[in-house]
Amino acid sequence: MRAVDLIQKKRNGGQLSAAEIDFLVDGYCRDQIPDYQMSAWAMAVFFQGMSVEETAELTLAMARSGDQVNLASIHGIKVDKHSTGGVGDKTTLIVAPLVAACGVHVAKMSGRGLGHTGGTIDKLESMAGFQIELTQQQFVSQVNEIGLAVIGQSGNITPADKKLYALRDVTATVESIPLIASSVMSKKIAAGADAIVLDVKTGSGAFMKTIEDAEALAKAMVDIGTAVGRQTSAIISDMDQPLGFAIGNALEVAEAIRTLRGEGPEDLTALCIALSAQMVLLGGAAADLAAAEALVREQLKSGKALERFRAMIAAQGADPAVADHLSLLPQAAVVIEVKAGRSGYVQRIEAEELGICAMLLGAGRAAKDEPIDYAVGITMQRKVGEAVTAGDVLALLHAADDGGRQLVDRARNAFIIGAEAPRLRPLLLSAVTSDGIARYAD
Ligand code: URA
Repeated sequence: MRAVDLIQKKRNGGQLSAAEIDFLVDGYCRDQIPDYQMSAWAMAVFFQGMSVEETAELTLAMARSGDQVNLASIHGIKVDKHSTGGVGDKTTLIVAPLVAACGVHVAKMSGRGLGHTGGTIDKLESMAGFQIELTQQQFVSQVNEIGLAVIGQSGNITPADKKLYALRDVTATVESIPLIASSVMSKKIAAGADAIVLDVKTGSGAFMKTIEDAEALAKAMVDIGTAVGRQTSAIISDMDQPLGFAIGNALEVAEAIRTLRGEGPEDLTALCIALSAQMVLLGGAAADLAAAEALVREQLKSGKALERFRAMIAAQGADPAVADHLSLLPQAAVVIEVKAGRSGYVQRIEAEELGICAMLLGAGRAAKDEPIDYAVGITMQRKVGEAVTAGDVLALLHAADDGGRQLVDRARNAFIIGAEAPRLRPLLLSAVTSDGIARYAD
């Protein structure tokens, strides 16, 4: 086999076989196929696309390229979740205990944040003592005993994806739905779960700007999961503004705990219930989606989900009293008000801009391995659709020192205020399962 023939075949709209895809992925990983040929192939895929079979084969080839986590010694169906990334997205902190409280095991590996989006692992580490590294044996025992564990990614998961993603980043081939779908799903499949629920964001703060693109990406990922024998479903949710009110590690943990107490923001609570219900359904703990949602709501109301959260943080070395005393979380030294410059309605909140402000306050890192400050971030005081009067507080900047004042104008400008009340888009837009795409509003 020769790489040049496979590039030509794809360029001409042909379909590559499993053996041909394996040849490319394996050869690229072993440095036998150079970057220039892999870039040419990625560009051919960008223009010609890939069939469901090819996308599934590419996913499996990348999943096989490194360590594959074996969760067989955890009882029952293990369900994972993945979010395509957003600002203020603390759903894993809520969904994992909520689903575990329903009797479905969650053995989850999460990542650190980079750029304007935060990472679950950084949020968990804002609770003093929280251990994100467990041995395989500790990980399995914890999930069997208390129903959940969330740890950092260890080992060498999907090196082929890492190498290909870095190449796509510099060859204008990131925005290809089969390449994104296989990249995300290869990591989920290598992480070992039996079933996967995807939270695909759309809107100004998301990778997929339109609902149609988000649905196409979700469908590509559901098709991959179905083709490789892992039940997969997806929810498309709005990211035209940050999720909830808090952005920044300890601030988001506090908001997650409030949500588990039943006192969370409406949007965050609704998304967590919807994602959890899908996970509970795929995990086999309910007969249909309505029963799954009822079970989830019951666990939230009874406090059992919060109890699972306490159990998890205690098992992983943090003080479970955090769940009852939010003042135990790191607190910023200075709180700065961001006030509206004009009256009107909040039309839009630029999620990415607020994410960048939080990062510049120290909540995130611009480059890998930079230290972060767990206490700092932003708490929004207003959401899209609300009326404001000039001088009203739009947000609070939680800063390490007065230097945070430099970000006041940038944060203010992230709130787009206009004279008219905007048409509000619902948070939950569609659900994508192996049966097809259903819009919530239809
Ligand atoms: N996130 C991923 O993990 N992969 C992509 O290709 C794009 C976003």
